Formats: sequence, C-alpha cells, structure tokens
Amino acid sequence: MGTPTIQTSRLILRPLALSDAPAIQRHFNNWNIIRHLATVVPWPYPDDGAESFIKQQLEKIATGEEVYQWVLVLRSGDGEAIGNIAFYPTAKDPKGNRGFWLAEPYWNRGLMTEAITAVNDFVFCALGVESFYVGNAVSNVASRRVKQKTGAEFVGYIELSHHDGQTKSERWKVTRENWLGRSSTS
Ligand SMILES: CC(C)(COP(=O)(O)OP(=O)(O)OC[C@H]1O[C@@H](n2cnc3c(N)ncnc32)[C@H](O)[C@@H]1OP(=O)(O)O)[C@@H](O)C(=O)NCCC(=O)NCCS
Repeated sequence: MGTPTIQTSRLILRPLALSDAPAIQRHFNNWNIIRHLATVVPWPYPDDGAESFIKQQLEKIATGEEVYQWVLVLRSGDGEAIGNIAFYPTAKDPKGNRGFWLAEPYWNRGLMTEAITAVNDFVFCALGVESFYVGNAVSNVASRRVKQKTGAEFVGYIELSHHDGQTKSERWKVTRENWLGRSSTS
C-alpha cells in the first residue's frame, strides 16, 4: 500500500514529494530541531540535505521497501510542508520504526499528537500492524510527551549518540491491542 493522504481536524498528511524540498530545507535546517536527533542526521545541514533525503526515501519506495512518508500541511495554510512523519513497519533498527519533526513556529499546539493519532489509526486499522517501536533522546521532553499521549509504553533504554550530547535513548512500544483499547474507551 502506498502512503495515503490523511486528514485530521487541522492537518493534511500527504505523501512526501520532491517539490517539498525547499520547505523542508528551510524548516528542518534548525539547530533546535536537529539537536534532539541522532548524530546520523548531518549537522551542519547540507544545502541539498532535504533534496537528498527525499530522493533517497522515494528511491526506497520505488524499489519496494515498505516505507510510509508523510509531510504535514496546515489545512488553514498555503499548502507548504511544515513537518514530516516517517514509518518503517518492518525495520529492525534499534532506533525504532518511526520518526517525526515539526517546524518550530508550530510547536506545543498539539499538532504532532493529532497527526500521530491519525497515523496510529492507519497503522493498526489499515495496515494491520501488531506492534512497533519508537524512541527519543532522554533529553527530548516534547517527543516523550507525544509518545505518552499516543499510546506508547516505555520499555527501556538504548545507547545512541545525539547532537545535544545525550547518549541514551528511551525505547517505547506501541501495540495494536493498547491502541484499539484506548480508542474504544476515549
Ligand atoms: C517533538 C515534536 C515533533 C513535538 O511536536 P508538537 O506538535 O509540539 O507536539 P504536541 O504539541 O503534540 O505535544 C508536545 C507536548 O510536549 C510538551 N512540552 C514541550 N516542551 C516541553 C518542556 N520543555 N517541558 C515539558 N513539556 C514540554 C508540551 O506541553 C506538550 O504536552 P501537553 O500537550 O501535555 O501540554 C517537536 O517538538 C519537534 O519537532 N521537535 C524537534 C524534533 C524532534 O525532537 N523530533 C522527535 C525526535 S524523537
């Protein structure tokens, strides 16, 4: 299944496209975002960082890898990408199966929680995934909070080097059983 377009009350999640490169380059090339991320992300961020990232992801999709790649767009906005969610259901990477970021001007309005809620519904109801793992630097309070608000259960720590110097990452598990149970009681 390809990455579907998903609408929430304030957002459109649509498939990542090469035309998103300028907006992603502008928003993602920000130390306040990158400092929370693993050192596998380049910093200083190269001028063609977004374009290379998008090409690499589209190539994976074209060659049949199971990758879901959304950009977040405000329904009330001009259509530009203001964030990204990636989901790799079958990845065995200790960092987990999902990544996300949002442009700094839009933080702390519940937007990523809203987007992840919709993505979880897609992952468990449409894809039928049983469970997956996610992670964040121990210092990343906002990312931890999004996980706590979207059904993730803390399962331990892994060693992982981050740009802010943090060497520990929290590991979380999100299960279909918990997610569907949560939805039916909310
Ligand atoms: C993580 C990120 C996507 C969150 O997006 P967001 O739309 O702001 O998230 P939400 O508004 O849905 O939730 C953020 C929560 O963190 C809380 N929070 C944020 N900073 C906080 C802080 N310094 N101390 C305590 N709580 C904090 C907010 O209050 C909110 O919780 P609440 O709803 O209980 O009040 C965004 O901060 C980001 O892009 N960060 C940089 C990249 C990143 O860290 N990506 C994840 C890597 S694992």
